[in-house]
Amino acid sequence: MITKHSLQLPQRAIILFTLNKIHNCKVSKQTANYMVMSQIEQLRFLRAEDIKGVVKQWGTPVFVYDEAIMHQQAQQALAFSAPFGLTVRYAMKTNPNSNILRIFNDMGIAIDAGSGWEVERALKAGIDPKNILITGQELPKNLVELVGKGVQFNACSLYQLQKYGSKYPGTNVTIRINPGLGSGHSNKTNVGGPASSFGIWHECIDRINDLAKEHNLNINRLHTHIGSGSDPAVWVKAAEMSLDHVRALPNVTILNLGGGFKVARTQEEVATDLRKISSAVADVLQTFYDKTGRKIHLEIEPGTFLMANAGSLITTIHDIVDTGDDGYTFLKIDSGMTEILRPTLYGAQHPLVVARDGSEKAQYIVAGHCCESGDILTTDPDNPALLKTRLLKKANIGDVLVIEGVGAYCAAMSAINYNSFPRSPEVVKRTGGTFVEIARRQTLEEMLQLETSI
Ligand code: LLP
Repeated sequence: MITKHSLQLPQRAIILFTLNKIHNCKVSKQTANYMVMSQIEQLRFLRAEDIKGVVKQWGTPVFVYDEAIMHQQAQQALAFSAPFGLTVRYAMKTNPNSNILRIFNDMGIAIDAGSGWEVERALKAGIDPKNILITGQELPKNLVELVGKGVQFNACSLYQLQKYGSKYPGTNVTIRINPGLGSGHSNKTNVGGPASSFGIWHECIDRINDLAKEHNLNINRLHTHIGSGSDPAVWVKAAEMSLDHVRALPNVTILNLGGGFKVARTQEEVATDLRKISSAVADVLQTFYDKTGRKIHLEIEPGTFLMANAGSLITTIHDIVDTGDDGYTFLKIDSGMTEILRPTLYGAQHPLVVARDGSEKAQYIVAGHCCESGDILTTDPDNPALLKTRLLKKANIGDVLVIEGVGAYCAAMSAINYNSFPRSPEVVKRTGGTFVEIARRQTLEEMLQLETSI
């Protein structure tokens, strides 16, 4: 039998039209919005017995990160070709757990910190202050203390540059430039161009030079980061444009091009080929040297690239609800925006895998456990306010559902404690195959710890 759930898009349009005619029934807007994920997604690194063991020990929801994938990704980033030297920084906002910082640090990866608080977290994790660069939207209140320890500073606005200069005249400083163009997997992750407040607008080079002169600052590094999930061609273009600014800043010896390398979380998405980008950037740096005699050391600071596909979230389907012929079948899981906000925020697509045997399939909407209609895992990528069904293995209440691609900006960026759900545990699958906890589940007492009585 043909159902609305079993149709491919073009077929669906025709058949829905016909159904409307035959039954004289109005097909809802939501029904017309059905899209079909072409292939059933697979587990990325967990095996059935891993899931069983982890669920037995930690319950659900639980994050699991694969150390082997982290190593592979880190090795690829460290192989980025740079003719005059390379520093890779881990954008710790991606997932700031101290164990993860140390895994990357042990491989020779430095740190990009997004706030004074992140700097302190990295210091507590044992990272050498000299390996930390702070690129923050807000000046840390304890900037003097942090810089005193050896942390490097990136001025992200003229005000920040002036403040830093008045405190540290005669020192080295980095400036973040908004090169005038940006690119991201959604408008919300594009951080370059006139609609973005990140960095000093590229036309302000004279003002930058004036401030540097006034405070006797040596601008030795230029920084740009144009967005997350960037178009590789735009990324390389931004590199070229940044080098134009390096020309106008004669003491710059380091160019930091930020992160933003696209990864493929689902089978439909296309990942950036890091080797292609890196050889294009190496050519640009070599040409710059040939023309100017200046050897520029390159820095990159990936987050998503290192972590996204190293993380899985194991959840349980606790209920299944149906809203009739013109509606949907909802799988309701014991997680949602409390662990993963990206689908709600950006329409981000994460693989969803019903961990059970069997070949029967069905179209589902997967809903989170918060009392929010927006707590949906299967949103439309073009408009996160809309639903988009997903073809999954036919599921029962009590089945495990694994959400893949959650290593980046999930545990670190979610609606933690909404509806008083406790923060979920995080576990690492070590290269040897053992599972170790790196954060335990929060208790209700810990949630209430900060409340005071009146
Ligand atoms: N450097 C700077 C200065 C950044 O602000 C960021 C990310 C990165 C590097 C790392 O970018 P990545 O390689 O992860 O794309 N929450 C969003 C992405 C916004 C991240 C903001 N900054 C997401 O879930 O995709």
